[in-house]
Amino acid sequence: MRILFFTGKGGVGKSTMAAATAWQLSKKNRVLIVSLDPAHSLGDIFGVTLKGRKSRFTDTLHLKEIDLHRLSKEYLQREINVLSFTYRYLQTLNLDNYFSVLKYSPGIEEYALLTGIEETITNEGNFDYVIFDTPPTGLTLRFLALPRVTIIWVDRLIQIRRKILEKRYTIHRIRGISSKEETLLSYNEGDDDVLKRLRTLKEDYQALNTILQGEDCTVVLVFNPDILSLKESQRLIEGLNDLKLPLRLLIDNKVTEENIEAAERVERDIRNRKDVAIERVFLSKALLDNKGGRLYDIPEDITSKL
Ligand SMILES: Nc1ncnc2c1ncn2[C@@H]1O[C@H](COP(=O)(O)OP(=O)(O)OP(=O)(O)O)[C@@H](O)[C@H]1O
Ligand SMILES: [Mg+2]
Repeated sequence: MRILFFTGKGGVGKSTMAAATAWQLSKKNRVLIVSLDPAHSLGDIFGVTLKGRKSRFTDTLHLKEIDLHRLSKEYLQREINVLSFTYRYLQTLNLDNYFSVLKYSPGIEEYALLTGIEETITNEGNFDYVIFDTPPTGLTLRFLALPRVTIIWVDRLIQIRRKILEKRYTIHRIRGISSKEETLLSYNEGDDDVLKRLRTLKEDYQALNTILQGEDCTVVLVFNPDILSLKESQRLIEGLNDLKLPLRLLIDNKVTEENIEAAERVERDIRNRKDVAIERVFLSKALLDNKGGRLYDIPEDITSKL
């Protein structure tokens, strides 16, 4: 299965290009297109109503909009269940107090989105292509960065937890088992639920990172021939480089006879920074007309590179 992420600044045409690519690829492949953008437009583009469920558009093209609100709630509930179980010995602390404010914690939406991506990749293995239409740049880079950021954090937490266990062991050796509480607290690494949980987290995020950085994953960056779009694209290219994410195609979208010189300049500038294929898509009335399938007519060259 190949995984494509369409990214770029707000309004450059990510959803349109993702939809057009999905349509074209679906002529010869089984394709699922998933909108990760809370302001979904996938349903509008294909002229159907999507309600958070996967729905069939043709035999080979399925559409799905991820409901970020529901996903965030489910993510939080799952984490709360795991935390309550892992820290069940901390009955003296009122964990409910923490949980009630956790939903306001920064990063919850990014983690929830990442969970949505992971679930889709895991469960939809019968598709040849899974295409993600992403929200504007900022949020996209943040959730794509999460696996690596999380691995760094979890590594640190594992070190701290091991130190705690070592101290517990020392205390246990000195005092022997003298109170009920101490019999409940593990000092063996193999028995410790917190350490087990941290190690599982690390393995999960490493696996996801391997997929995101792997051969089957492609980030497509959409931009327009103007200076603001160029600047933001440069930042995004650097961000993707830092994260070692595979940017394999750039689409210069909404090119016209009037802005073709600007398009050439912008493309040259981008090429100087990153040696990667750039395809042009002209601003086209046909792309706006979603009747009779003309919306989806983009150059075959684009899909042949994916
Ligand atoms: N090549 C094109 N020719 C004509 N119109 C286009 C083209 N590409 C995009 N558009 C139009 O530009 C507008 C923005 O496109 P789109 O919604 O795909 O952008 P987006 O990057 O997904 O935006 P957002 O960041 O809000 O999700 C839409 O009205 C779309 O129809
Ligand atoms: Mg969009």
